[in-house]
Amino acid sequence: MTLTSEPGVADGAVLPAVRAGALDAYAIRDEFPILSREVHGHRVVYLDSASTSQKPRAVIEAVDAFYREYNANVHRGIYEFGERSTNAYERARVEVARFINAPDSHELIFTRNATEAINLVAYSWGRRNIGRGDAIVLTEMEHHANLVPWQILVQERDGDLEFIPITDDGLLRLDVYEVLLRVKPKLVAFTHVSNTLGTINPVREMVDMAHAAGALVLIDGAQAVPHVPVDVQSLGADFYAFSGHKMLAPMGSGALWARRELLEAMPPFLGGGEMIREVHLRRSDFNDIPWKFEAGTPAVADAVGLGAAAQYLRGLGMDHVRDHERDLLAYALDVLPREVPGIELYGPLDVDQRGGVVPFNLPGIHPHDVAQVLDRFGIAVRAGHHCTMPLHERLELAATARASFNVYSTRDDIDALVAGLRQVQTIFEG
Ligand SMILES: Cc1ncc(COP(=O)(O)O)c(C=O)c1O
Repeated sequence: MTLTSEPGVADGAVLPAVRAGALDAYAIRDEFPILSREVHGHRVVYLDSASTSQKPRAVIEAVDAFYREYNANVHRGIYEFGERSTNAYERARVEVARFINAPDSHELIFTRNATEAINLVAYSWGRRNIGRGDAIVLTEMEHHANLVPWQILVQERDGDLEFIPITDDGLLRLDVYEVLLRVKPKLVAFTHVSNTLGTINPVREMVDMAHAAGALVLIDGAQAVPHVPVDVQSLGADFYAFSGHKMLAPMGSGALWARRELLEAMPPFLGGGEMIREVHLRRSDFNDIPWKFEAGTPAVADAVGLGAAAQYLRGLGMDHVRDHERDLLAYALDVLPREVPGIELYGPLDVDQRGGVVPFNLPGIHPHDVAQVLDRFGIAVRAGHHCTMPLHERLELAATARASFNVYSTRDDIDALVAGLRQVQTIFEG
């Protein structure tokens, strides 16, 4: 069976949704069934893609086909369904590894999400390598998923956390980072793209600085892999974690990529079936990577869906995806302050340093109220701390509302947001 024989996009094919070298988001929308639904009598304006993305037909059909046509456990059944299931699962691994340009698909471990991928490193690598007084450098803009696992680790192992501060615009203070590296941390872990401010961090530069100081680097790619071209080889990081559900794939899919020699030296994270080669009553030998880190029955259909999503995005071309979202961001940053009096926007002003995430506040109106009124018009935005409480503390904000984009987002969505925000102001300001 070839890589392209299951639902998805033919190898190297460009979808009709790419015209004249740019995404046609209107054509793309037709491929997302949920976007034709109405909410409270309005067309749905989904602006919460940083939280989770919607799913194209190619992904839904890949999952559907798994359950309808060949549902069986993997790496076990010596029968047609079992072989097909195993092939599809391992083919998805190859597809996802290729999507981030991993040198070897065996370096890609399927997880439930980015959170699990980061916890895998914290439990397996962390408990073996972090000891009393060892430092881990994080940043002030981390999602809780790339903060809490390290807090738990250093509390248990008597290590230390250090934090790279941010500027008021939401850029990392690399001058302070340089100073922090003098404590010779064992690990530097930071987000590629901020889920709250949209900041795109200078990964390569930061990785080089960390390596020069003798530290390994983990990148939280949850907000990067769906939106910008990611090449783990050219980024040079040691661990790269991401979620499937934010990149058009099913809930419950995600992955960790890491360099082979690191994975081979790391002890298992979870024990059980699949991850063993031989089991005796008092000891076991473990399987090769990646299966050593995939204990129990995996989420096969979700992994197959993740493979289909990677194929779909590859068909669109990640350069096109990035250009489309940068265009939307520039439009939003232009139109919102002009059309919505008093709106406060946060994050870097330079669209080249920022992904399609727009946090904002309307003075005097709580973001939850903003989101609730917008919902009446079918507009979905997120309100709260977006799992970045320390970042909100740093910016002295109790909460923000956040609009975020994906391949199916359009300027019409932003216009609808503008109109919705004006309604919010009318309602609250009379
Ligand atoms: C930057 C970042 N890291 C990690 C996560 C955690 O993702 P998940 O909940 O899929 O594990 C998110 C989710 O919003 C995120 O935005």
